[in-house]
Parts: sequence; structure tokens; C-alpha cells
Amino acid sequence: MLNPDHILGSTSIATFLSEHWQQKPLLIRAAIVDYVCPISADEMAGLACEEEVESRIILEQDGDHPWQCLHGPFEEIMFEEVPSTHWTLLLQSLNLHIHDFAELLERFRFIPNWRVDDVMLSYAAPGGSVGPHTDNYDVFLLQASGKRRWGISNKPVTDDDFIPDLELKVLKSFEPEQSWVLEAGDMLYLPPGVIHHGVAVDDAESEDCITISIGFRAPNVSQLSSALLDDILEQDTQSRGSDQADRFYQDANLALQENPGEISHAALAKIKDMVQQELNNKLQDSDWFGKFITNTPEIVTPDIDVPDVDVGQCLDALKDGQPLVRNEASKLAYFISEQSDQNQPIHFFYNGRVAHYPMSMLPIIQLVCNHRYPPVDELNKALHDKDAQTFLAALIDVEYFLYLDDEDDT
Ligand code: SIN
Ligand code: CO
Repeated sequence: MLNPDHILGSTSIATFLSEHWQQKPLLIRAAIVDYVCPISADEMAGLACEEEVESRIILEQDGDHPWQCLHGPFEEIMFEEVPSTHWTLLLQSLNLHIHDFAELLERFRFIPNWRVDDVMLSYAAPGGSVGPHTDNYDVFLLQASGKRRWGISNKPVTDDDFIPDLELKVLKSFEPEQSWVLEAGDMLYLPPGVIHHGVAVDDAESEDCITISIGFRAPNVSQLSSALLDDILEQDTQSRGSDQADRFYQDANLALQENPGEISHAALAKIKDMVQQELNNKLQDSDWFGKFITNTPEIVTPDIDVPDVDVGQCLDALKDGQPLVRNEASKLAYFISEQSDQNQPIHFFYNGRVAHYPMSMLPIIQLVCNHRYPPVDELNKALHDKDAQTFLAALIDVEYFLYLDDEDDT
């Protein structure tokens, strides 16, 4: 089930992190030896017809205009009508739908879990591509079947370099500085901003060209500020008492101004202090970030404060050695507060919510946050603690964790 080896070939994880991650591309031949793609192009077309799977078709030449992007779900007939070459089918977040792709993410545990975005699959007809472009995130491009020629360039780009008025961002022209043909099991890592263009090799002997993109998200400053401000707003809406007065601008002992039409430097300095103070307080507190980064707005997330959870019933199978798997839809992370006055310094984030725990809960919290498949013996060891039992039982009860056999049935 799990391969303990890393996926970076002859490059060590330490070298990758210090020299490549966020810095420069890395080609890894045979990252996974004898890789067999878990799904076929026909199965991908089937998934593109399903409501729950986010899908797109990119038509380079035969659409209403070059690089037309069509959004699924599609009718089956669509796949009889597509041209024979130069188009691509993209399926987003397949780790949520296909167990093998969730399991593939385990090979990337050398990057913190909260940085993972999703596993996207692309099928490209001969000559097909999504055009030369840059991405704002780190991506590992694993060739799953067939062959694809990747060209890359480190040339800086500006908005004017892109074809105007397209839904997709495609560069007007592209001169690769380096290029390689990737075959099944080969992988290319690209940091943000590197121009890349992957074209399915048009060769009759090759299998269908399928590429897996393992994408890592990096929140941008507007998303972060907006999450921070939402948190401040929520706090203001909740505070109704006398403490509310402190949250307004105050100017007792106001100095008489010669020009009432002027905003004084003193007033502006107070305003700046007021905002900075609020931001500093919020930034000390991890909750807004933990909630933001684990949030899954598209998924209804049950509370883990389950009253009267049947601990015995939830944990018996685990005690008998049955492994658990994290539900791929659950995003979990923790933070340990350094504020000494806290008797519950562990902030446990689950799908946009937070719960606080004492340090005695650290072993069980680390196990559930670090692993997709927490080792059964370590779990059982952590479960000597009664509170850890209730905690894990609740996670199983509300299906943040599933027994592996049950998960295979779904
Ligand atoms: C693709 O697989 O067709 C596109 C992936 C990418 O360029 O990031
Ligand atoms: Co890309």
C-alpha cells in the first residue's frame, strides 16, 4: 500500500528542498518505476460526464476560437464529436474520487500537508496541449501513460505576452530553453512562474498520453488579508458589551485644530496604530490562518464535539488491527501556541473549524494530522489516554476517518 521510498530519484529530499523547491525545475527519470496509470482515457471521459467531477475540455484549433475551454459535466456524445488531434481533457481533484490518487499524495509528505492543492489528470489527444503558460503554484508533472514533450523557459513574462481575451492564460509565443520527452513514470517538478508547454507526442506506437499534475497551493496576500479581515469582522459582530467601545477610534484631550478641514498627522498616526495593533494581535493567533487553510467551503463539515459518542463501537475494529484511512475530504492541521498562559495550547483545525486541546493530546493529534494511513500500532499506543479515545472515536463517528475496508467499498 505505502512505498516508503521517496519519489525524487537520485535527488535527496534535503537537496530537493534546498535547491529546487520554489527555485528551479527538476527532471526525475523513472520517479516511479513501471508506473501503471490507474485509469484509462475512456474512464476519464466517463468521469467527465459526472456531476461531482470538475472537468474541462480545451480545443486548440477546432472550437469557436483558438484555445476554447469547455466546462463539464459533458454528455457522452461529446467524446464522439471531438477532433482526432489537438485537444485535452482535464479532470480536477481526482484525489477526492479515486483512492490511488489520494495514495499517490503520500509520496509527497516531504512538503507540509496544508500546501497540497489537488491531483489533476489530463488526457491529451495527439498534438494536444493546454498551450504554453505559467502557473502560480508548484507542480509535479508525472507522466502516467504515453509520451509528452515538455518544453520550459525561465524567461520573465508580462501580461502583454498572453493572448488577450481568453479564459485560459496562453502565451502568444514560446521558445523552449530546455525540452524533454517524458514517458510513464518520469516526472518534472516546476516551481511557480516557469513557462511550460507539454504536447502529447504524436506517435502511433505510444499509449494514450495521460499526465498527472500534483499541485501545491500557496495562498496569496489578498486571500490572506481577506481571511484575516473576516475574522476581525466576526469578532466585531459578536462583541456587544462595553468592550466594544475600545474598538472605536478615541481622541480624548483633542488638540484644537486651526484648520478643521485637515486630517492631522496625530490623527493618522493613531489610526495607523489602531489598525496595526489589531493586525498584530490577530497575527499572533493562528486560528484565522488554520481555519482558512483547512476550509473546504464545498463540503459540509460536521462538528467533532459529538455528544455520547460510542467509543467502544468506533474503536473496536482498530483494536483488532483494522487500519484507518483519512477521508480525503477532510483537511486537518494543528498548531501549538507558545503563549504560556494557555492550558489548551494545541489548536486542532479541521475543515475550517478549530478545537483546543491540552499537550497530553499531542500524540493522537499528530497521528491524525500527519498521516493518511496512521500506523495502527502507534494509534493503539496513543489510545491509552481516555481523552484520545473519545477524540478519535468522534473523528470516526463523523467520518473524518474511515476503516480502510469500508472505504474500499465506496
Ligand atoms: C496538462 O497536463 O496538460 C497541463 C498541466 C500543466 O501545465 O500544469
Ligand atoms: Co501548468
